[in-house]
Amino acid sequence: MPDLTLNINGKDLKVSSPNDEPLLSVLRNRLDLTGTKYGCGEGQCGACTVLINGRAMRSCLTPVSAAVGKKIVTVEGLAADGKLTKVQQAFVDEEAFQCAYCTSGMVMAATALLAINAKPSEEEIIRHMEGNVCRCGTYPRIIAAIQRAAG
Ligand code: FES
Repeated sequence: MPDLTLNINGKDLKVSSPNDEPLLSVLRNRLDLTGTKYGCGEGQCGACTVLINGRAMRSCLTPVSAAVGKKIVTVEGLAADGKLTKVQQAFVDEEAFQCAYCTSGMVMAATALLAINAKPSEEEIIRHMEGNVCRCGTYPRIIAAIQRAAG
């Protein structure tokens, strides 16, 4: 298996992995970064969302080799200084979760949105977040959290 170097949360990490292994599997099973969740494994739910060069990407559909040389940010990288980001704090304040399985993917997708659009309209939030599924149906609180983070 090739030795790959991945830049994750600001650190270069070495990992041995087949080139076509999904980034999600590498994060969770080889690097113990389990904040990124396995939902469907087919690009349908958004639970596995990470940032790659600032864009929200499905790590279940991203071969690890495609992430080499790019900046990967997982949910573990958001509060690296011990302080929640605005998006994370807003999700807490709005209680924008029930079981919370989708939350890390939601937070990563919302983080990517606010990086490119600091004041999204409700419609823009819904459009950007539509690929992230919450099986508990907490969508109104998720929208409120993103609006709070943008406020
Ligand atoms: Fe990747 Fe569902 S686990 S989109």
